[in-house]
Amino acid sequence: MIIRTILTPAEIATLPASDLSQVTAVVFDILRATSTFTTALAHGVAEILPAQDVPEALRLQALHPDAWLGGERHGEKIAGFQLGNSPLEYRDLAHKKIISTTTNGTIALRAVSHAANVYVGALLNLEALAQLLLKNPPAHLWLICAGTGTSFALEDGLAAGGLIEALHPHASLIDDAGLTLLALWQTKKNALPETLAVTKNGRRLCERGRTSEVSWCARLNHLPVVGQLLNGTISTVPTTGTNF
Ligand code: MLT
Repeated sequence: MIIRTILTPAEIATLPASDLSQVTAVVFDILRATSTFTTALAHGVAEILPAQDVPEALRLQALHPDAWLGGERHGEKIAGFQLGNSPLEYRDLAHKKIISTTTNGTIALRAVSHAANVYVGALLNLEALAQLLLKNPPAHLWLICAGTGTSFALEDGLAAGGLIEALHPHASLIDDAGLTLLALWQTKKNALPETLAVTKNGRRLCERGRTSEVSWCARLNHLPVVGQLLNGTISTVPTTGTNF
């Protein structure tokens, strides 16, 4: 397994034009999109359709009138949408279909939607994700750190580092950024809530009274589910052998 890491939104912007036919991609947007989607799936949400932007979300809703609209801009619920992007809002929506557009997370998911496999990564499901990948190790694994605005986000890199720690005995090559994220993980893995709280996104959420959301997203291996993006829709991959 060759592990490559994509650290910034600028790199992510090049991915739609890249050949990813041999690549398995894992997308991390820890605060909060991929944590929210993982929470939603673990609580019975049937499908999540990630949209690039608000107009696309509205077009998708015309095709799926039963779906609820969710997401954020500048961290807050979008006017006219039923849901924001707090993972805590998505724990009571069993069997629902959600269309979501977020600043970074859904952009990153859509940028790699043509990869051979696309999984939704979070600290919440890191072990389930590692077990899934180890069942059938991909030749090329790309870890996509969705970022905050136009910048690298530490919390995304931290989760990617955690996955690298679980997979590195099976890796023939880890790129330099991946080795850096592994070292970051090894320094911070016992202080996840505190570390998330001092990131740019974490500070913003805490300042707005959303500390409980940051704490939720910092829970390691809390949820035994993995979402997979296939044909424009995220749904749960059945996992076996996970013992939480
Ligand atoms: C994003 O996609 O950029 C984030 O999830 C932002 C947020 O939740 O505030």
